[in-house]
Parts: sequence; structure tokens; C-alpha cells
Amino acid sequence: MKNVGFIGWRGMVGSVLMQRMVEERDFDLINPVFFSTSQTGQAGPSFNGKTSILQDANNLEALKALDIIITCQGGDYTSDVYPKLRAAGWQGYWIDAASTLRMKDDAIIILDPVNKAHIHAGIDKGIKTFVGGNCTVSLMLMSLGGLFASNLVEWVSVATYQAASGGGARHMRELLTQMGILHDKVATELSNPAASILDIERKVTQAMRDGSLPTDNFGVPLAGSLIPWIDKQLDNGQSREEWKGQAETNKILGNSSIIPVDGLCVRIGALRCHSQAFTIKLKKDISIPEIEQLLVSHNEWAKVIPNDREISMKELTPAAVTGTLSTPVGRLRKLNMGSDYLSAFNVGDQLLWGAAEPLRRMLRILL
Ligand code: HSE
Repeated sequence: MKNVGFIGWRGMVGSVLMQRMVEERDFDLINPVFFSTSQTGQAGPSFNGKTSILQDANNLEALKALDIIITCQGGDYTSDVYPKLRAAGWQGYWIDAASTLRMKDDAIIILDPVNKAHIHAGIDKGIKTFVGGNCTVSLMLMSLGGLFASNLVEWVSVATYQAASGGGARHMRELLTQMGILHDKVATELSNPAASILDIERKVTQAMRDGSLPTDNFGVPLAGSLIPWIDKQLDNGQSREEWKGQAETNKILGNSSIIPVDGLCVRIGALRCHSQAFTIKLKKDISIPEIEQLLVSHNEWAKVIPNDREISMKELTPAAVTGTLSTPVGRLRKLNMGSDYLSAFNVGDQLLWGAAEPLRRMLRILL
């Protein structure tokens, strides 16, 4: 059995990864070794009955003994430890959730329902570094993979509706705290049907502006609002999150001729499902039933939701999709711009296909 080290397994993405690995009995197939940056020597967790003592996540000798390392510890850890480990001659497989190594030539972005052949070709060539993609990119490709695989996409314009979990656990807590404070400010008026809604709104708006809300993580109120910027500002006016759309999509697909992907990335008050509205320029005019067939046959998680009001409201929302591996896509229709312009809307759990799931599936590929 392979010795597989886990770093950052207690954080939010790591916890989802552990849960999925237990569900899929992945631990039956490996010798897991759990690492910590702060609790070396203490008892480790017990997943599927396998226990161990926590090892030091900064101990290169302990890391060098592993066949495979899976890290959800974050970019700083990767930047610090990965180069040292490789410089020390470690030849094992490094599977990473952080973006640090994604665009390196000797790393592959993993999303096996979309690029399994690319992953296998990489392994055959000796690639040892495999990195999970940006969540919006992975979720887009899970939903729309059938169109890309059929070479039907000329370009994609996207507007995202990204959940708080993309920022991290503290961001989710901050959003919920903000929501609670706003509710508390007007709880009395809300219980009185005769209270003026404009008075209620004024109190809420005032609380959003007067510093009543905690904003350490988002920087501004998100509850009752939105934030039209995610990640760093680049010199060309894009956010880094927007830049990733084209860069990572084309890297995952292994395209030599670049498919333009661009748009606006927006944080909204959802908890852990990202949604995206797409305008897709098709290379040719094909019918909606043909498109639906291509989408559902691409992978078992890409469910097509009929473009119907009731069904869309029930099934194409974060409330419906959170906690599932389903990556539904709906609102499929031809736009007024012409019959080769397609609209689509997808939803996906940012912590599952958007983060943890590609990592555990990469492990399976290596076993
Ligand atoms: N960058 C993403 C977000 C999450 O902030 O929503 C990680 O892919």
C-alpha cells in the first residue's frame, strides 16, 4: 500500500476531503499519515479505523518517506515546502488544492471527468505535480464539458455569483454574523405587519453603512449587498479570479489555440455553492436538444435542468445543490443576438467539485 501524507486535513476543504474519502472508502487502499503544523506527536484522527501519530508538516525527512502528499494547507505552505522537498530529490506525487503551482509547466490541473486523458499522458511522461483548479473554472467545465469536448465553443462570457466559502471558513462565519445583526436591528419592526418596509430598509441600510457589521474578512458588508471583485487587482483591470477563467480553462483542456473566457466575478451571500451565468458563442448553430444531449452525456454529474420557471427555481439554486456532487446546468436558450449565442446558468458546490473531489479522484488514479 502507498504511504499517503495529508496536510491541512482539518481545515474546511480538508474536512470535506476526509468526509468524501471515508464515504468512498479510499482509506482502505492506502497507509495514511497525518501531518500538523502545530500538534506534532499528538494522536491523529481515525478514518476507516486507521490511526497514527501526527507528524510535523515541516519535517522534510518525514515528508520524503511518502509516496504521495495531498495538501489543503494553502499557498504559503506550498510555496515554503514544495521547492525544498523537490530540491531534496523527493520524487513522489504532490496533489495540491492551492493555486500556487497550477500554471507551472510541470504541473497538471486535475479535473478527470474533463481531462482524464491529459492526466494519464502526464503520468506517463513523468509529471508528479497535480493541482486542483479554481472552483469556478472546475464547476464550469463540469457543467459545460460536453460543449468544449465537441469543440463547439468559440468564446465564453461569464458573470459569477460566488459563495462566501470561496474566501474561507471565517468568511462564511462573517456573512452569517452580518445577516444576524441586520435581522436583529429590525426584528421588532418585522414582527409588526404595520411597520413601514421603507423604515425597515432604512435601518438596515444604516447598519450596513455605520460600521455595525464585522467586515474583517470581506472588507465591506456582504449581507444584503454584493462585492463585484474577487481576489487581487491586476494591471489590466481584471481581477485575478477573472484572469483564471481563461488561463485555467485552456490549460485544463490542453488547448493550443486559446478559447477566450472572460467576464465579471462577483461575491454574493450564498454559503458554499458558486453559480455562473454564461453567454456562449457557439462555432455553429446546433439545436437545444442536441446541446442538452451533449451536456448530459459528457459526465454523470452534469444534469440538465429544463428551462422552466418552476423547475429552475427548485433545482438550479445553491439551496438545492449544496452538499451534492451534482453540477446542474439550465436556463439553456438561444439569445436575441443570434442562433449561435447560447445562454446557460450553472450551480455547483464549491467545496466538492470546486475543491476536494478532484483531489481524492487524483489519488485514486495514482493507486
Ligand atoms: N477563488 C475562489 C473564490 C475559491 O474566492 O470563490 C477558490 O477557487
